[in-house]
Amino acid sequence: MTKKITIAIDGFSSTGKSTIAKQLAKELGYVYVDTGAMYRAVTLYAMQHGYISENHFDSKGLIEELPAISLSFTFNKKLGFAEMYLNGVNVEKEIRTIEVSKLVSKVAEISEIRKKLVREQQEMGKNKGIVMDGRDIGTVVFPDAELKLFMTASASKRATRRYKELLDRGDKVNYEDILQNVQERDRIDSTRKDSPLVMTDDAIEFDNSDMGLKEQFERIMRLVNDRIQ
Ligand code: DC
Repeated sequence: MTKKITIAIDGFSSTGKSTIAKQLAKELGYVYVDTGAMYRAVTLYAMQHGYISENHFDSKGLIEELPAISLSFTFNKKLGFAEMYLNGVNVEKEIRTIEVSKLVSKVAEISEIRKKLVREQQEMGKNKGIVMDGRDIGTVVFPDAELKLFMTASASKRATRRYKELLDRGDKVNYEDILQNVQERDRIDSTRKDSPLVMTDDAIEFDNSDMGLKEQFERIMRLVNDRIQ
């Protein structure tokens, strides 16, 4: 008999967390939740409603508006993963733009926003059988997760990955702009007051700067198998 566990994956942006998380969820028949998509969707809402732009942030107004923001995931069979919906509208593409990436860390610093999203994330994982990735999953959302992974890779490797992803999507992007965004987000995400990105003592670190996906997946699956037997 195998038991269902909770797998928490944390790490800096573009460390390949979601790729590995999706693969694990598929292999195990678990639910996959990309919590970064939730912070991105709130940011998109804030942009659409004039609460945030490059030089202005009405965080108080956004906090008051929180009850009007409904987030959900719907599994897309063709893509093989769940897509992000904001108030019933599929925003999977809109939340991945560089504009959202530039503003999301500011939104993710707000404690009231974190509280709402953490509550929803804990609800999604209450029956286990879940792979969740983000920045505070092993520390705040599921401190008792049976398996905690912490992914790292050099900033230049991560910026190159992100650059290729955006180019493949047909976006006009500049590598320097992306590298700067990756470094700026690292700084904000790991130094913010509420739930900064930190590696816990019970997390297992994976530096995948030079590790292939296959090797990484096999190593993680061995850790999973030790815990589900
Ligand atoms: O994983 P990502 O790059 O899509 O995340 C977008 C931003 O959201 C990231 O800069 C930090 C924030 N985030 C967070 O604060 N906590 C999470 N659990 C997930 C993401």
